[in-house]
Amino acid sequence: MHDQVAPDRSTTILAGRVVVITGASRGLGAGMARTFGEHGLKLGLCARHEPVPSIPTTVDVVTAAVDVGDAVAMQGFASRVAERLGPIDLWINNAGVLGPIGPLRDLDPIEVASNLRINLLGVVHGSQVFIRHRHEVGPGGVLVNISSGAASHGYAGWSAYAAAKAGVERLTEVIRLEEDASGLRAYAVSPGVIDTDMQAQVRASTPEQFPEVERFQRLHREGRLRPPAHVAEFLLRLAFDPTHADDRVALRVPD
Ligand SMILES: NC(=O)c1ccc[n+]([C@@H]2O[C@H](COP(=O)([O-])OP(=O)(O)OC[C@H]3O[C@@H](n4cnc5c(N)ncnc54)[C@H](OP(=O)(O)O)[C@@H]3O)[C@@H](O)[C@H]2O)c1
Repeated sequence: MHDQVAPDRSTTILAGRVVVITGASRGLGAGMARTFGEHGLKLGLCARHEPVPSIPTTVDVVTAAVDVGDAVAMQGFASRVAERLGPIDLWINNAGVLGPIGPLRDLDPIEVASNLRINLLGVVHGSQVFIRHRHEVGPGGVLVNISSGAASHGYAGWSAYAAAKAGVERLTEVIRLEEDASGLRAYAVSPGVIDTDMQAQVRASTPEQFPEVERFQRLHREGRLRPPAHVAEFLLRLAFDPTHADDRVALRVPD
């Protein structure tokens, strides 16, 4: 057993659970995969570039190159994970892109559409696939759609991203209502400011593109970005520790 795992928790609650993470080739998704692997969970991981997870060799893992905007590919990936690893307990729609960044008037409509396709439609596809899977295998299951502070607060320069994340939160509220009777719990989780490529992209923006850039540069200078493991541990408690289940749909990972 890995030395970071508390024996009672890993054996009674976590070990053998099956978790899917989209967008697991780097950033928050790759970091969560690492933490989950250390806890003995089985992993289904996808991104456009096939993830190469940094996890113990004993962990059961299925990886695939999948674009979340492709509904058919998402269905095929989910089927392969369930066939190889068993019923999926937790599905995390994490894949996302920030850009295009800048005033809406300056943005290329094709890039705006691409953002919405990944950030909103990708979450629709992942949610549909997981809900249908849970209806086949039995009651329960936890769906986590990774949201953002931009879902509830407008940031100039992030029009497509903010619109998509707001859509993700409303989508998740609807899923909670529709699936309440099936025992599936759906959450939209805002992770806070995490140390990933996406934050590097935020800091590299010009003030003309993103007027609040200085605040994010300061958070980085002051060492206030959180590691992905912080989010991973929060989601494990939310999904698998009954004392941490939450009635609210939209949650923010606490500091
Ligand atoms: N970092 C933060 O501070 C922060 C704050 C709030 C919310 N979030 C949210 O957290 C999530 C993860 O962000 P991050 O910071 O880890 O970003 P990141 O470092 O840029 O990583 C994004 C991940 O999404 C994947 N991805 C992008 N487009 C995809 C597509 N079409 N299909 C499948 N996978 C795709 C990328 O892999 P490929 O390029 O290989 O596809 C990568 O693995 C996002 O939903 C983001 O909005 C992050």
